[in-house]
Amino acid sequence: MNQRETLKNKNGVLEIGGVSATKLAKEFGTPLYVMDQAYIENMCKVYKETLEKEYGDGLICYASKAFSCKEIYRIVNNAGIGADTVSGGEIFTAKSVDFPMEKICFHGNNKTKAELEFAVNSGVGYIVLDAYSEADELDLICKKLNKTQKVLIRVNPGVEAHTHHYIQTAKVDSKFGFSIDSGEALEIVKFVSKKSNIELCGLHCHIGSQIFESKSFALAVDKMTGFYKTIKTELGLEFDVLNMGGGFGIYYAEDDAKKTCAEYADYIKIIAKELKYNVIVKGIKKPFLILEPGRSIVGEAGVTLYTAGRIKDIKSIKKYVAIDGGMFDNPRFALYQAKYTVIAAEKLNEQPIEKYSIAGKCCESGDIIAEDCMLPKINEGDLLAVLSTGAYNYSMSSNYNRNLIPPVIMVKDGEARYAVKPQTYEDLLRNDV
Ligand code: LLP
Repeated sequence: MNQRETLKNKNGVLEIGGVSATKLAKEFGTPLYVMDQAYIENMCKVYKETLEKEYGDGLICYASKAFSCKEIYRIVNNAGIGADTVSGGEIFTAKSVDFPMEKICFHGNNKTKAELEFAVNSGVGYIVLDAYSEADELDLICKKLNKTQKVLIRVNPGVEAHTHHYIQTAKVDSKFGFSIDSGEALEIVKFVSKKSNIELCGLHCHIGSQIFESKSFALAVDKMTGFYKTIKTELGLEFDVLNMGGGFGIYYAEDDAKKTCAEYADYIKIIAKELKYNVIVKGIKKPFLILEPGRSIVGEAGVTLYTAGRIKDIKSIKKYVAIDGGMFDNPRFALYQAKYTVIAAEKLNEQPIEKYSIAGKCCESGDIIAEDCMLPKINEGDLLAVLSTGAYNYSMSSNYNRNLIPPVIMVKDGEARYAVKPQTYEDLLRNDV
């Protein structure tokens, strides 16, 4: 476990944001998503200040696909950063708490006409285009509404990063963006720059997610600035904005690097340093730099609490402990074979002596949360905690098997409150006809 002041072992019991896991489970039940608010605030602050200090003009846009609900938009807005959105629903949620729309980037490889209209009408800062027909459609929408929309174009710098292939996005065969190397990116830049109701301000790339190698980010900066130079030379165009996306790797389990909040600043420092250098060497205009970390802002802030249920011992083969949650609250093992740290939340001072696989309660063999976890002896009723579940857990949850999506609790300074209330069976029927 990557311990810190707000995530620690207190007399053998896990304490998050000053509240013990025992108390949280008693008060709110399990399964339960718990979010350490101070951690999120600290990460926003570290990223914002590092960008200002190491680069200057720019904006951190929290990638809200990692965890989206009203409260997170309030928290990141209070921290003075923007947001990255990928659907009308995310924009709507942000808008519902008066999030400053000009600090929003709107992405997506297949935004609908209705979403584009909603985004323009809401006044989002930038729409990131990913298709010719999208540029046409948006231009018409803006004409009709008598508005000019700032846009970026998603390009693919062709940088391969070491991460799961589902979350890798800048390979040649990616469904996202226009390839720089093939010349397609230059063609769409020419096309969009001629439109009259949309204003092309720059380009965007995102090379993938859960990436630790800073070399990949540096290489992407090199490719993007090289392309800015080509555009300047060939088209006489200079851009004001560069959006380098997110993707910074976090600590889940033993194989990952452990970082403090302050150490996460290194990702920003590398990008800032590379960009400043490349701007000078390549003789291009210094762009306003947008970065979109999602996972690294909320990931380690999250802990999911479960109660251990049936224990199945398949003699000399495998021991399962089943929990009251599963792939409906965390589908990441099933999707990406993601690794997690699992702990017995009230037995932290006991020796790990047995290997357990943590199974969910869905009617599906692939419904596993983690395999081969060394734990103290587990009994039915024990409290288990899965760490680093703040990103892409609640946001990817579902009602599979008509299980209820667990509530989300924010904890800070010893106080716990709902960010998302528990679902009820009636909620399941709400839209059924
Ligand atoms: N910007 C863009 C355009 C993105 O597509 C993404 C993530 C981000 C920023 C934020 O990346 P982050 O800093 O969170 O790594 N469901 C997968 C992750 C999919 C990421 C999609 N795009 C998972 O659970 O690992």
